[in-house]
Amino acid sequence: MLKNDLILRAARGEKVERIPVWLMRQAGRVLPEYRKVREQVKDFVTFVKTPELAAEVTIQPVDIFGVDAAIIFSDILVIPEAMGLPYKMIEAKGPWFEKTVKTEKDVERLRVACGDDLNYVTDAIKLVKKELNGKVPLIGFSGAPWTIFAYMIEGSGSKTFSQAKKMLYTNPKLSHTLLQKITDSTINYLKAQIISGADLIQIFDSWAGILSPEQYNEFSLKYISQICNAITTVPKIVFAKDAFFARKEMSKINCDVIGLDWTMDISESRKLIGENKTLQGNADPCLLYADFAVIKSETEKMLRSFGNHRYIANLGHGLYPDTNKNSVKFFVDTVKEFRF
Ligand code: CP3
Repeated sequence: MLKNDLILRAARGEKVERIPVWLMRQAGRVLPEYRKVREQVKDFVTFVKTPELAAEVTIQPVDIFGVDAAIIFSDILVIPEAMGLPYKMIEAKGPWFEKTVKTEKDVERLRVACGDDLNYVTDAIKLVKKELNGKVPLIGFSGAPWTIFAYMIEGSGSKTFSQAKKMLYTNPKLSHTLLQKITDSTINYLKAQIISGADLIQIFDSWAGILSPEQYNEFSLKYISQICNAITTVPKIVFAKDAFFARKEMSKINCDVIGLDWTMDISESRKLIGENKTLQGNADPCLLYADFAVIKSETEKMLRSFGNHRYIANLGHGLYPDTNKNSVKFFVDTVKEFRF
């Protein structure tokens, strides 16, 4: 049984005593404690595949920041790897794939991943659940099919993901076949995370904002919607970065929570999305570079705008690695101490 289920109740639209808070990228380089554990295994992929270490860094922000949820330490790119496209994480550069998808044959060769392919993640989840002993819920996650597709075609990060977008225009058939394979893999993966103990899940569509509204419906939301329909036992958060144009459409899918980034006006978002979804977000991660007085006043302004019903406080994207750990803690405390 969970001792703190604020996030689950907020996700379902139930009453909460105070606003719950967690942070995207709360486990990571902002914490000297993370960097210390990370030093033990220099290679990121190997680190992610070591359940004991993944579990340890998952729990760190719960103890250090006092957030209302843990998020399992892993990466969205474990799915391409399980499907047959291994990745490397290059220091100061980001993800890199030796092989990318170019032809129908390449898509055919990929497998649909099953839960067992990702035992290292589900093993980490089991360890975390044991260690947390009901202290806070554990968030499982995956990338949205479009964002995973973008990395599998492009082979690395990119400002424009123009190779991935080129594929949508030049070979929509291949694009849909690949997106469906990623979707089926993701559903298997998220189900395995839930069986192992994930109490809710978040789908990260980090590259949503580079598609047109029409493309977004056809190549992204359609597949996110399939995932949401397949996952029926836990609350679902969908975070589509920069997809301000998709908010109304997103309100129609079968999820409980919609994540907003800081470019999205709060009251306008509420109007577009309606009262039947919980909203999550949306402080600019750069706010945490400001002094404490500014962090406090801006955070309180945000909390007042969202209101105390159907709301989970968070940033509008992941923490930047050079953020001061004390500022992160101050943000979390500001949310936890706030009363209307
Ligand atoms: O605390 C948490 O949020 C859980 C852990 C987590 C990581 N990646 C660990 C990580 C989560 C939820 C992710 C998701 C992820 N990974 C996304 C979606 C969220 C977003 O930020 O938009 C994306 C696009 C990726 C792909 C990825 N992984 C990139 C582009 C990079 C390099 C950029 C960077 O920050 O260095 C990573 C590496 C990565 N994933 C790190 C961490 C902590 C940093 C690498 C390190 O510790 O050496």
